[in-house]
Amino acid sequence: MCGIIGYIGKKEIVPLLITGLKRMEYRGYDSAGLTVLNNDSKVLTRKKKGRVADLEQLINSEKIHSNIGIAHTRWATHGFPNDVNAHPHNDSQEKISIVHNGIIENYAVIKKKLLSEGFEFRSETDTEVLCLLIERFYLKVNDLELAVRLALNEVKGTFGLAIVSTYDPDKIIAARRGSPLILGVGDNEYFVASDASALIEHTKNVVYLDDDEMAILSPDGYITKTISNVQTNNEVKTLEFDLEQIEKGGFEHFMLKEIYEQTQTITDGFRGRLLIDEGNVKLGGLRTVKEDFRNAKRIIISACGTSYNAALVGEYLIEQLAQIPVEVEYASEFRYRSPVLFDDDIVIVISQSGETADTLAAVQEAKQRGIKVIGLVNVVGSSIARQTDAGIYVHAGPEIGVASTKAFTSQLTILTLLALYLGRMRNISSEEGLKIARELSAIPEKIKQILNIAPEIEKIAKTYSYSRNYLYLGRGFNYPVALEGALKLKEISYIHAEGYPAAEMKHGPIALIDENMPVVFIAPKDEIYEKIVSNIEEVKARKGKVIVVTNIGNNELDRLADHIIKIPETLPILTPILSVVPLQLMAYYTAKELNRDIDKPRNLAKSVTVE
Ligand code: G6P
Repeated sequence: MCGIIGYIGKKEIVPLLITGLKRMEYRGYDSAGLTVLNNDSKVLTRKKKGRVADLEQLINSEKIHSNIGIAHTRWATHGFPNDVNAHPHNDSQEKISIVHNGIIENYAVIKKKLLSEGFEFRSETDTEVLCLLIERFYLKVNDLELAVRLALNEVKGTFGLAIVSTYDPDKIIAARRGSPLILGVGDNEYFVASDASALIEHTKNVVYLDDDEMAILSPDGYITKTISNVQTNNEVKTLEFDLEQIEKGGFEHFMLKEIYEQTQTITDGFRGRLLIDEGNVKLGGLRTVKEDFRNAKRIIISACGTSYNAALVGEYLIEQLAQIPVEVEYASEFRYRSPVLFDDDIVIVISQSGETADTLAAVQEAKQRGIKVIGLVNVVGSSIARQTDAGIYVHAGPEIGVASTKAFTSQLTILTLLALYLGRMRNISSEEGLKIARELSAIPEKIKQILNIAPEIEKIAKTYSYSRNYLYLGRGFNYPVALEGALKLKEISYIHAEGYPAAEMKHGPIALIDENMPVVFIAPKDEIYEKIVSNIEEVKARKGKVIVVTNIGNNELDRLADHIIKIPETLPILTPILSVVPLQLMAYYTAKELNRDIDKPRNLAKSVTVE
């Protein structure tokens, strides 16, 4: 979603801002822009609908020199994606310029007031309203920082923002409420960004701003304070990933690179945590909530998108291994429907980015109700990671492709660890623990075997890339995998796809089946295998095209299936980590065949920081 980068120092600003914007492209956006200060009495702003490369082309035709500026990639919320609505937005005299992530919820009321006072608007955005509000206060108090604080006190909603102004040309003012913002601390140079990937090539020293905090950056240093003007003292932290990790490393797309990285990221998830010889798990992040887990009568897992599909696997895992009842709920539903919560409930939230607005709101709702909230988060230092009571980092490394792949399998790995941890705490024998631990540690090698058959999967994907619909069916642990397979396909290929529990097919989707409908069955040899074979027969009888994912060594389905993908065997509870991989590849190769923008699919954002 929207991205912010700002810089003050000695370097030439334009290339620095453009590279920063490019690093955040993966988040999803529809326009880009920047403002620099160049000793003129007005700010210099350039912005454009489309790609950062379009903005770059526009600017390269001019010779702009400066070493202070702010830039933005916009993902439209209020107003169409066009040049005018793109950020930065300036005040009426072109002296104050702002970039903003988030939503000003009471913008309509403020706009009405400003209009009645004679202010004029150029765009349809909520951000311009905030900018003119700052201008209004500046004209009264003649102090930029104070004007910003007064304006922020009047707005409702969320913001991560950066401001430059010719009124105070040696400063960047940044502030946050509900939308992430990080300061980068270099050598006599300072950065502000909404995403660490925009700064990583310049500095690894960062300061995370908290909600209702602001920062004032100058060439000599920075200060942080609350929006109500109380100085704060945030620790400088070190980023733990490097530039190489966010570059493509020879792969055509980030998504493919991330699918291949799964052999490593899964190991990163269990390394140091899985005690293979003891059949047990050590989770340092849960130390403070161990007793809460021991006494928990119910666990509620809340998440969005792919993380929600992982949560569904988590439900099956925890109920099977630990016998604790689990409910899974979309974060967007959880936050608004006043769920019934008990003191001995535990809420777990799952989020790759740690910034999804609905999931963050679910955290806040549960905390307000006095419930312990545990985070399973990938991005270290993200808002959800910092606001939860305890947590387990997923350790999948930076995920750039908008369609989540390696984060999903890492989330499943962590959920397996958690279920085993709870199971061993309650009722699982060390023997069973040993079996699960050994099998989990063998998963990365088995993923390698699946990646080896990528060319076969590519062929199947190409055969059906003309299809307008797809159905994905699975049972038990593989029902959420069916959902995830369908989600992956629709996200990046724009083919309509549905995931269903295989037996439910009879209650609706079966009506859609004809010779043009590819149906993907996830049918490993487990205790409900026979049942799913009947479902395959039902599809075949209606001339559907059957693509089956089953185990190596199972030849029984060869006669029924039009195409068969064979994956290594593992325990049923671990199958999803393997069975999702061919489905990720199917989606990837279908989208590639259709020439889609795989890493940046239309309308989607990597991190959805609005409701
Ligand atoms: C967006 C992304 C998805 C992701 C979902 C939840 O829709 O495009 O890939 O699964 O948000 O994001 P989170 O960061 O909370 O896991």
